Amino acid sequence: MQKLSLLIRTDTFILRKLQMSDAESLAKHANEKLIAKNLSLLPYPYTLEFAKKWLSKSCKDYLKKFPNSFSYAIEIDGEAVGYVSFNFIVHGHEAEIVYWIGKKYWGRGLMTKIIETATHFAMKKFHLKRIYAYTFPLNKASKRVLEKNKFRFEGIARKGVRKGKICLDADVYSKVI
Ligand SMILES: CC(C)(COP(=O)(O)OP(=O)(O)OC[C@H]1O[C@@H](n2cnc3c(N)ncnc32)[C@H](O)[C@@H]1OP(=O)(O)O)[C@@H](O)C(=O)NCCC(=O)NCCS
Repeated sequence: MQKLSLLIRTDTFILRKLQMSDAESLAKHANEKLIAKNLSLLPYPYTLEFAKKWLSKSCKDYLKKFPNSFSYAIEIDGEAVGYVSFNFIVHGHEAEIVYWIGKKYWGRGLMTKIIETATHFAMKKFHLKRIYAYTFPLNKASKRVLEKNKFRFEGIARKGVRKGKICLDADVYSKVI
């Protein structure tokens, strides 16, 4: 098995690099309408085939000196139950953060802590001054998680997110240092 690269281990979760063997658990936990509804590129149903394709691309990102995207698996009880991704990375400047966690883990304060850890790590690793997130206006849990992490509301990106064939307004939040 590929050696896991550990970011952090806490009492409740581990953040580590993804690996191809995460495909089955990601497909299990991501296959949820409420997750797909709030993410622009995550499909429902979420198939094992999709998970493998996405993982294959994400694992290749680890090999690049200046990756455009970088993702970490959220591991709980030995399973990958979600991930945090940094996309559109401009080294020395900014990146977008995208995240989800399996529904059975919602409401336990996990993503608040995970984002705190992951943003701290990404800021250092990619020398970022700004991390931003696009959330759909009705996604109150996601906005709350960002606010608890001192992200500030910047405004509305009109038709800023494409979901399938439709372009939707999104609330933009950012954290700067
Ligand atoms: C958004 C998401 C990541 C939150 O993860 P989580 O681990 O449940 O988050 P936490 O438990 O750390 O915090 C959730 C906060 O939102 C609040 N919340 C949840 N649902 C809410 C609602 N409908 N209205 C208002 N607040 C709500 C909780 O009360 C909590 O705030 P509090 O600590 O002040 O009480 C998770 O629900 C998820 O994966 N959703 C689907 C994917 C998604 O939306 N990703 C983000 C895309 S931008």
